[in-house]
Amino acid sequence: MFPLQRGRRLRVNESIRSLVRETSLSPSDFMFPMFIAEGENVKVEIPSMPGIFRRSIDLTVEEVKELYDLGIRAVNIYVKVSENLKDNTGKEAWNANGLMQQAIRAIKAACPEMIVMPDVALDPYSIYGHDGIIKNGDVENDSTVDALVKMAVSHAEAGADFVAPSDMMDGRVLRLREGLDAAGFQNVGIMSYSAKYASAFYGPFRDALDSAPKEADVAVPKDKKTYQMDYANRIEAIKEALSDAEEGADMVMVKPGIAYLDIVREIKNTVHVPVTVYQVSGEYAMIKAASERGWLDHDKIMMEQLMCIKRAGANLISTYFAKEAAILLNK
Ligand code: PBG
Repeated sequence: MFPLQRGRRLRVNESIRSLVRETSLSPSDFMFPMFIAEGENVKVEIPSMPGIFRRSIDLTVEEVKELYDLGIRAVNIYVKVSENLKDNTGKEAWNANGLMQQAIRAIKAACPEMIVMPDVALDPYSIYGHDGIIKNGDVENDSTVDALVKMAVSHAEAGADFVAPSDMMDGRVLRLREGLDAAGFQNVGIMSYSAKYASAFYGPFRDALDSAPKEADVAVPKDKKTYQMDYANRIEAIKEALSDAEEGADMVMVKPGIAYLDIVREIKNTVHVPVTVYQVSGEYAMIKAASERGWLDHDKIMMEQLMCIKRAGANLISTYFAKEAAILLNK
């Protein structure tokens, strides 16, 4: 009680503040999402994500080495494949010589210590821009899961350390675990996008990969609400994370980040595996846009948001700011 208790005593100067600080950030807290393009010597900036590029494999490898030297220990990999490789089966997704598989091999060869986590979902390979196979006007769950298992096993064969299913199909974590084990990949982990919400914050990402749901000649859902979660829901997120952990997920993820930190804390308190948070493309775009206008201080906002995500319960943060934040932290 005042005046015996004066909270300001613990805020008098930076030294005392640093002694009582409850949360800290380091480069190994981050995973960097990377977009891979076909070709060589290709580096194209994504208009709605300034500072983020689609790179061909050769340039990706160079970037990965830099990230490793900065202390970053994991990358999430997404590919942009050409239109003629897309169909409604997604079969290019498990082509042993596909862009993803080549990228995994090249990164692991150049930087073996970097943890490589390819995305497992069919959207970059779907003519309809959906995460699975379309049948009777919706994404069909079980046939999609069969496709995802083939995809994940091909990632493991290429050398992936983890697979990261972002599709939100039911039962996929158990099937992926069984499929990986049967193929001899007991040590390949699963980071499950457990509480992935149907969010407008993914807009810039879909520009980057040209993977937004498309108009079609057959009936297709216009959005991803039949598989990604309703952002009005909280209990459902806990249920999804619990069942993914039971099915064998080594880590669970909440996505997006900043607007969903209540969910992060709930899941952190409930599920006893590491919790990862994806600070998604739209969150990145907002900070870039406002700071370009001089309305926000870029570096301060970046660090504040990352720290708050960690404080909320994230063990790891997948973020497009990983490199910039690591450089700042290393100063
Ligand atoms: C695809 C996938 C998406 C993101 C990660 N994996 C897009 C989507 O579900 O439509 C979004 C990431 C971001 O916005 O940064 N399954």
